[in-house]
Amino acid sequence: MNLGLDTRVLLNHGGDMPVLGLGVMESSGRKCVEAVKHALRIGYRLIDTAKAYGNEKEVGLAVRESGVPREELFVTTKVWISDQGYQSTLRACDSSLERLGMEYVDLYLVHWPVPQKRADTWRAMLELKDRGKARAIGVSNYYPHHLQEVLRASPIIPAVNQIELSPFLHPREVTEFCQQRGIIVEAYSPLARGMRMNDPNLVATAQKYGKTSAQIMLRWSLQHGYIVIPQSTHPDRIEENADVFDFVLTPADMAVLDNLHDGFRATGLDPSQAP
Ligand SMILES: NC(=O)c1ccc[n+]([C@@H]2O[C@H](COP(=O)([O-])OP(=O)(O)OC[C@H]3O[C@@H](n4cnc5c(N)ncnc54)[C@H](OP(=O)(O)O)[C@@H]3O)[C@@H](O)[C@H]2O)c1
Repeated sequence: MNLGLDTRVLLNHGGDMPVLGLGVMESSGRKCVEAVKHALRIGYRLIDTAKAYGNEKEVGLAVRESGVPREELFVTTKVWISDQGYQSTLRACDSSLERLGMEYVDLYLVHWPVPQKRADTWRAMLELKDRGKARAIGVSNYYPHHLQEVLRASPIIPAVNQIELSPFLHPREVTEFCQQRGIIVEAYSPLARGMRMNDPNLVATAQKYGKTSAQIMLRWSLQHGYIVIPQSTHPDRIEENADVFDFVLTPADMAVLDNLHDGFRATGLDPSQAP
């Protein structure tokens, strides 16, 4: 597998997307700008933000200061819960684009499955794609019962479903549903927010490959075909998290890591229970 930061996967309704990017959920101000610029300098091309993170302006600024041509980048943002519904989603996207200082985003995601709003929000997402404001559209935190609703109502299915996913939380009912339908699974909190780095199996695997626990977790996701968006504001960790393309976990080691699933949610949010 000859992979690297420039490796992309095809999306079901056209275009492609890098397999590894930088998450920026908990960074703000100049720290966020510098983290994004460092990531872009060393070759990251995917940046994952959201209205709810309050740092779209900083992401836009970092992109402009980086000098990397816009067309080389893949910028994701998301419509927050309180903005869902048809007109309000259209308005929310315009506001996000204004804050980012961009004409379009590469991927616009419905951040959370809100009951009674899903159909109208998705109609707006289709409209945003038609108008070229979002090159690709998708969802986040959708479980099969949420996805079924979208699939029934829409001629265009989500390109991506961004869910919490790590060796400790591997919801196969979601990943298999998506993979069978050509929906790319994107793993958020792929490092379980750093809370399980000392797991003995993870540490033993890391020692075996001369890698870190973080790198093993990311590599495990990539080998399952999931996109990963680890977050860090530390330059050395941003580099470490990208250095996952020079080794391959054996099927036996993948199986060891598959066995770590115990349903641990680092974020505490459980969308499977959302009606
Ligand atoms: N769609 C959603 O609902 C949703 C929800 C949550 C997250 N997300 C997205 O997913 C991204 C990543 O998720 P996340 O931030 O929750 O968790 P994560 O990427 O699993 O973990 C981030 C944490 O791990 C630490 N870390 C990063 N690299 C490390 C390394 N190599 N070694 C040790 N510790 C390391 C970071 O600390 P330092 O910063 O101090 O390095 C930070 O505390 C977010 O930024 C966001 O873009 C989406």
